Formats: sequence, structure tokens, C-alpha cells
Amino acid sequence: MSASIIKGSEIAEQIREELRTEIAALKEKGITPGLAVVLVGEDPASQSYVRMKGKACEDLGLFSQTIIRPADTSEDELLSLIDSLNADPRIHGILVQLPLPKHIDENKVILRIDPDKDVDGFHPINVGKMLIGEPGFLPCTPHGIQEMLVRSGNDPEGKHVVVVGRSNIVGKPVAAILVQKKKGANATVTLAHSRTKDLASITRMGDILVAAIGSPELIKADMVKEGAVVIDVGSNRIEDPSAKKGYRWVGDVDFENVKEKASAITPVPGGVGPMTIVMLMKNTVLSASRSAGVTPGQGRAAASKRPRPPVLASNVPRAVWSMSMKTFKHTIP
Ligand SMILES: NC(=O)c1ccc[n+]([C@@H]2O[C@H](COP(=O)([O-])OP(=O)(O)OC[C@H]3O[C@@H](n4cnc5c(N)ncnc54)[C@H](OP(=O)(O)O)[C@@H]3O)[C@@H](O)[C@H]2O)c1
Repeated sequence: MSASIIKGSEIAEQIREELRTEIAALKEKGITPGLAVVLVGEDPASQSYVRMKGKACEDLGLFSQTIIRPADTSEDELLSLIDSLNADPRIHGILVQLPLPKHIDENKVILRIDPDKDVDGFHPINVGKMLIGEPGFLPCTPHGIQEMLVRSGNDPEGKHVVVVGRSNIVGKPVAAILVQKKKGANATVTLAHSRTKDLASITRMGDILVAAIGSPELIKADMVKEGAVVIDVGSNRIEDPSAKKGYRWVGDVDFENVKEKASAITPVPGGVGPMTIVMLMKNTVLSASRSAGVTPGQGRAAASKRPRPPVLASNVPRAVWSMSMKTFKHTIP
């Protein structure tokens, strides 16, 4: 039986629709969420990611600023640019596109971003909050993976999740998020990496297998449990003379063979990638909401939970109704 395909592009569209409502509510209060994306240098892949982020902002009607600096920008210049963005009230989220040129210390740059504007979720304060389950900003790709699982009907609760890859931007945070004692988490997590012995025996234990390796099609069908849910984070460009551009994108999973064994699988492209971008938009809206003292979605949720006055129906004695009314008046905030 062939697996169902978890289409990240469709789930991302659902989330964008929800964000439109939240953005409209913020705009009514005079707040337009704003994102600044900083790119240093001319790396073509980074240029393309930055363009996609700008386009996503435009599509949702967010304020966006793309700041491009030459590759020889000094560390001090970049730090003072971050200081000015930290102080800019139009900017609710700051993202510095990584990797940075070698002469700039990435850690210093990440530390300089105001944790309240750190929509990438890379600042140690947000990493710490994620680990202890406090609200902060969750990193976009791992958070997108959790949303994909839950929204596709594959709640990780009680499942054994095997993550292959332990990077700070994907593997470790995926594990930290899915192991939380929280809705949409509560998984038993195993984290594997390049020093893991007999990787296949570990990956075959996963009810859910997350591959974040950066090695084209490393995960073969015999490494996957029958009926597993497979999330392929990998994004690898491989030469393909038969493709129009001479190359194509593949994941870390041998999609064609694994889909015959899995119950659900994400494609590459169109899987995790679109989720990463929409979660960045979500964090920017969250940041703008927090700066305005609003919890996103609170308006709608509060409206649906607000107590309704008791109905005076023909079969309800007036005395009973009036008692209920008294109680109601005491309960409304
Ligand atoms: N779609 C998206 O939005 C998105 C976002 C981020 C990343 N990605 C993609 O996801 C992939 C992973 O990214 P990353 O930044 O996490 O990569 P990374 O920093 O290079 O980390 C790769 C991890 O895989 C492990 N690994 C490498 N070879 C292995 C092997 N043969 N067996 C087991 N583990 C192995 C490494 O182990 P060690 O720690 O022992 O070296 C490391 O922990 C890349 O293809 C990247 O392009 C996609």
C-alpha cells in the first residue's frame, strides 16, 4: 500500500489563512507586524531564501525590510545594524540569514538580537525556554514539523519518534519540542547521528521517523518500520542532466521506495520547506501580538467561550430562569 502524502504546501496555506485573520485584527488596532531579514554576502541559496521570505511577507500584507550588506561587512557594522533593528518599533521580528561570512561570529550575532524579536528561535534564551516548555519563539523548521504531524492526523503523543540528525536548527529542537509534556507532543524520542551504531536498527523502531541529515536519499526502505510516518527535512540539490535546469531537489529519504512501506510521508519539495516559511510568518505575527499585549487568536477563542445568558424558554419556570440569570451576572467578567 502506498503512503498518504503529507503536503506541507497545503498545510502551510491553512496556516496562512489563519494568520490573515490575526493580521487583520492587529491592523484594526493600528499594528502591522514587521519582519527584517538581513543578508550578508551573495550566496545564491541564501539570496533565494531571503527572496522567498520577503514574498511571503508581501503575500500576507506584513511590513518587511530586506537589508543586504556586502560580504566584507565587519562584525561591528552588523552588530550595530541589529541594535538599530532592535530599537525599531516597526520591526517585530529580526532574522539574520545564516551562514554568515567566516570573519563574523554567528553566535555573537544571534546573542545580539533582542530575544523578544528573535523569530528564528535561535537565541539561547528562546532555546532554553523551548527546552523547559516556557512560551518563547520556537524555531521554524522544528515547529513546522510538529504542526505537520498534528494537522495531518499523526499526533506524536505516545509514539516513538526517531530523529536522525542533531543539529541545533533541526534535530535537537525537534526532539526537544516533541518530548514536551504538552498537547501535540508527549512522544518518546530517540536522537540518532553520525556516530550512532547500526542506524537502521534504530530507525526501524520509529513510529515516526524524522530525517534531518543533509545526505541525499540516505534513508532506504529497509530502514523504515512498516506503517511509519516519515518526515523528510533534507533538501539536497543533485545533478540531473534530464532535468530542465540540470539539477533537482531530493530529500534525505528514498521517497519512491519508502512510500511503499510508510503510512504517510512528506515530499521534497513541497513538504517541510513551505512549513518553515509559514512558521516564520507565524512567529512574526506572534511577536507583534505580544508587543500589543494580545494573545493571537484570543479574540476569537474568547468570543466562543464567553458565557451566554440563560434562555427564557417556554418550559423554564420564570423563577428558575431568574435564579440562573443572577448566577450568570455574577460569573461574567
Ligand atoms: N526544508 C527546510 O526548511 C530545511 C530547514 C533546515 C534544514 N534543511 C535541510 O535538512 C538537512 C539537515 O540540515 P541541518 O542543518 O540539520 O544539517 P547539519 O547541521 O549538517 O546536521 C546534519 C546531522 O546529520 C547527522 N548525520 C550526517 N550523516 C549521517 C549519517 N550517515 N548517519 C546518521 N547521521 C548523520 C550529523 O551527525 P553529527 O552531528 O554526528 O555530525 C548531524 O547531526 C539538510 O539537507 C538541510 O538542507 C531543510
